[in-house]
Amino acid sequence: MSKSSVTITDNRTGKSVELPVLHGTHGPDAIDIKSLHRELGMFTYDPGYVSTGSCRSAITYIDGDEGILLYRGYPIEQLAQHSSYLEVCYLLLYGELPSTEQMTEFRTIIRHHSMVHEGLRRFYSGFRHDAHPMAIMVGIVGALSAFYHDSLDVTDPEHREISAHRLIAKMPTIAADSYKYSIGQPFMYPDNSLGYVENFLRMMFAVPTEPYEINPVVARALNLILILHADHEQNASASTVRLASSSGASPFASISAGIGSLWGPAHGGANEAVIRMLQSIKSVKEVPKLIERAKDKNDSFRLMGFGHRIYKNYDPRAKIIRAACHDVLKALSTKPEPMFEVALELERIALEDDYFRERKLYPNVDFYSGMIFKAIGIPLNMFTVVFAMARTVGWIAQWMEMMEDPENRIGRPRQLYVGSPQRDYVPLDKRR
Ligand code: ACO
Repeated sequence: MSKSSVTITDNRTGKSVELPVLHGTHGPDAIDIKSLHRELGMFTYDPGYVSTGSCRSAITYIDGDEGILLYRGYPIEQLAQHSSYLEVCYLLLYGELPSTEQMTEFRTIIRHHSMVHEGLRRFYSGFRHDAHPMAIMVGIVGALSAFYHDSLDVTDPEHREISAHRLIAKMPTIAADSYKYSIGQPFMYPDNSLGYVENFLRMMFAVPTEPYEINPVVARALNLILILHADHEQNASASTVRLASSSGASPFASISAGIGSLWGPAHGGANEAVIRMLQSIKSVKEVPKLIERAKDKNDSFRLMGFGHRIYKNYDPRAKIIRAACHDVLKALSTKPEPMFEVALELERIALEDDYFRERKLYPNVDFYSGMIFKAIGIPLNMFTVVFAMARTVGWIAQWMEMMEDPENRIGRPRQLYVGSPQRDYVPLDKRR
């Protein structure tokens, strides 16, 4: 910890407090305000946590102004080019890239846990046939606590590790089953002779009656998408997981809460919202009208896939995925959909428009990921489910880090109360 500090003075009383300034490896310094309430009787007000750091973390680093994203220090561009999703999982969980032996062992462990309990499979039939797969996933993942009692002591590092492995291993099975149930097809059991991504594709798209061949272009594209979505530091869903589990709640319940948070259209649900928005635009001629709507303060419409709380230059994941999007369409010889043309026009006009430039609103990863998902055959209502599958390792890494942090306490934000002053109860017959 550094010796630098800032002093805050309450001008009303003249009382001061000296607050230590903390330095990270990269990024802006942070004022440690822990003693503020004790010393000055005040707390900070920061809706949306725009200026508030909630923890120390050694997992992911983002520099939104420079468009930098690092997992455990490694640039996302290098991981996207050279790594595999499962290797990235190892990196996020354990902090270092694995040796060959460590990778082999990790792969074996994850394979070993890929099946879900048969009793859990029966849960699916309780859902309406047309339920959104995200709704099913929230329920099924939460229900895992009811099946794995043997590893629910969150104070035991071994239990935490088993839960982490179970979640990473079972998520593709749960995701694919959620989809199969929603379309009325039989569930496919995992095939442990396949890799993580290939296994998921088979469980999603194969049927027991037909042979299924995995397209390597599709597997590569999905591997890339999973890597790009694996973690993103203290975003809404990761913070939800941390807050939920800060009470000592089970990791399954906490990850289920994270999935619920991710579902929102301002977060992971944006990739689905992007495609729905693009599909509603009949031709490129309608694009300027849409841009005007997005700029109109009296219209709640927002351009989905534009803007980011942290990236105010460009989203590095968007840059990688934009290039991959073109490659995938070419490799699959997919005729570009009219929607794709609309997307490029939207991107072009928005990038030239003063409103978007002044507010630093650039296309984010969701603007392009939906187009890849569409090209590789992932249905619209599964986009956010695949995102949740990818992000599970990030949530778990954040949870494990939090559980090992000596500074960890139950999360409990304060509030500025603006309700009625204290008043006395009035019996019903005396009220006017
Ligand atoms: N379209 C039009 N205007 C926008 C958009 C948008 N997509 N996003 C932000 N703005 C405007 C706001 O109206 C506001 O304008 P003002 O200053 O004149 O009032 C300004 O830009 C700042 O917006 P905020 O809402 O304060 O930005 P914030 O950081 O809180 O929100 C968010 C970020 C939620 C991502 C927002 O940009 C948004 O809703 N984007 C569309 C949804 C989306 O793509 N989400 C995916 C996020 S990435 C992810 O989860 C992987």
